[in-house]
Amino acid sequence: MNKQIELDNLYQKEKSNKNSPLYIDGNTNIIFGEGNPRATLMIVGEAPGRDEDIQGRPFVGRAGKLLDKALSESGIERKNAYITNIVKTRPNNNRTPTEQEIKQCWPILEEQIKIIKPKIICTVGACATQAFLKKPLSITKIHGLALPFENLMVIPTLHPAYILRDPQKYKDFLSDLLFVKETLKNLEK
Ligand code: URA
Repeated sequence: MNKQIELDNLYQKEKSNKNSPLYIDGNTNIIFGEGNPRATLMIVGEAPGRDEDIQGRPFVGRAGKLLDKALSESGIERKNAYITNIVKTRPNNNRTPTEQEIKQCWPILEEQIKIIKPKIICTVGACATQAFLKKPLSITKIHGLALPFENLMVIPTLHPAYILRDPQKYKDFLSDLLFVKETLKNLEK
């Protein structure tokens, strides 16, 4: 089946489920993900914030704009990747999702990965990275490394919201994304 149709079916199934585990804090606006359903790169963040909740798209607020800038400077076209979050609805007050919420939302992300079959997943920030690696590893130590995850590769990077608070770290963020680009190029050879 066409991958976009498979993704649409998955979204519709969740949307029609009034008791979906995706609904966090009673927020029912599902920010499912967007981009190329045949992407070799998936970018996975933590959870939608206020701007994402309003626009119904992932990474469109200030942090999203900074992500866009770094993607473009590293030669990655946002539209060629598939971008989503671990948690698909907005946690109130932008709090970090709990372990239980991450566990509940995980099967949807797993389905998305199964459909898209990326070669690399770039996890953005500590929360998304820990959700994949299932270990409390320090993001400041492991960002920019290629780590095995099932039959693909996870490359963690810093969260752009963190870079907004500490702009000096932008070069590290950019260097992670340049490494993602380089690794993709090598895998596609
Ligand atoms: N932060 C995230 O982790 N995801 C978004 O979609 C926006 C901000």
